[in-house]
Amino acid sequence: MKPAILVARAVFPEVLHRLSAHFEVESNQDDVVFTPSELIEKLRGKAGAITTSSARINRELLQQLPNLKMVANMAVGYDNFDVAVMTEFGVKASNTPDVLNETTADFGWALMMATARRITEAEHWLRDGQWHKWRYDYFLGADLHGSTLGIIGMGRIGQAIARRSTGFNMRVIYHNRSRLAPEQEAFANNAQYVSKDEVLRQADHLMLILPYSPASHHTIGAAELAIMKPTATLTNLARGGIVDDKALIVALRNKQIAAAGLDVFENEPKFDPDFLGLNNVVLTPHIASASEATRRAMANCAVDNLIAGLSGATPPNLLTSF
Ligand code: GLV
Repeated sequence: MKPAILVARAVFPEVLHRLSAHFEVESNQDDVVFTPSELIEKLRGKAGAITTSSARINRELLQQLPNLKMVANMAVGYDNFDVAVMTEFGVKASNTPDVLNETTADFGWALMMATARRITEAEHWLRDGQWHKWRYDYFLGADLHGSTLGIIGMGRIGQAIARRSTGFNMRVIYHNRSRLAPEQEAFANNAQYVSKDEVLRQADHLMLILPYSPASHHTIGAAELAIMKPTATLTNLARGGIVDDKALIVALRNKQIAAAGLDVFENEPKFDPDFLGLNNVVLTPHIASASEATRRAMANCAVDNLIAGLSGATPPNLLTSF
């Protein structure tokens, strides 16, 4: 008999087709976002699951699911998993690294450029029928070329963002838990390792692309925003909770920094409505990896992991070790 699995959110139909060759699949093509207790009910008797960040895999859930053997997250971030507890319960966990690096880096640039050059603000103004003449000072923004790009979180995506800056003749400074090897720094447009405060002080454009954990909670709050340049932009591609959104709203309102581009929010999708009252922020609904090819690659990566894990092999992107 094939093992039973749950695909906890809607996916491309061909993904279900691929899974059904190996498993008894329960799908959720209506894309209901399950509550924690609904998720437990759906997972009862299942050997595995494909999840996204809306599914919290924690002690309360695992205590009730003795048959569960593996959960494959369709995301590179896995702050929805309590990996220590999954390890304790012998439940394998995997994520989808690498396949989304370049697409996410492309989007980071799109968001940073839209923020610096006020593209969505200008478009809203145009659509609103306000464009009657050209003026020398309409929508003056900040240059990217020749400026300093500061990156906090210099993993694979951070490095891909840095590499793209060569064409803009930018200086790259970064902060990370650990310094990159010299050859990696050289490949990332000669990125220079500095303290977090130096990144904040010197960056003309700050890019946040570090994983969320209790240790990285509110990496950017009021104190950090206070030492940034008043002309600087901030782009958050990482996770809600990396930035203290209330403090950012105050800083944007008071023009303590020039503008922000945000793809992720605290409590998303219920983000702070005060963002909507600000015109110096570009808001997108967590879509950095959303190219057609990459979302398919992420889904297939999660499937590869689940097939390997439930057949007793080591999943290519295993996060647990026991
Ligand atoms: C998206 O946010 C991901 O972690 O893949």
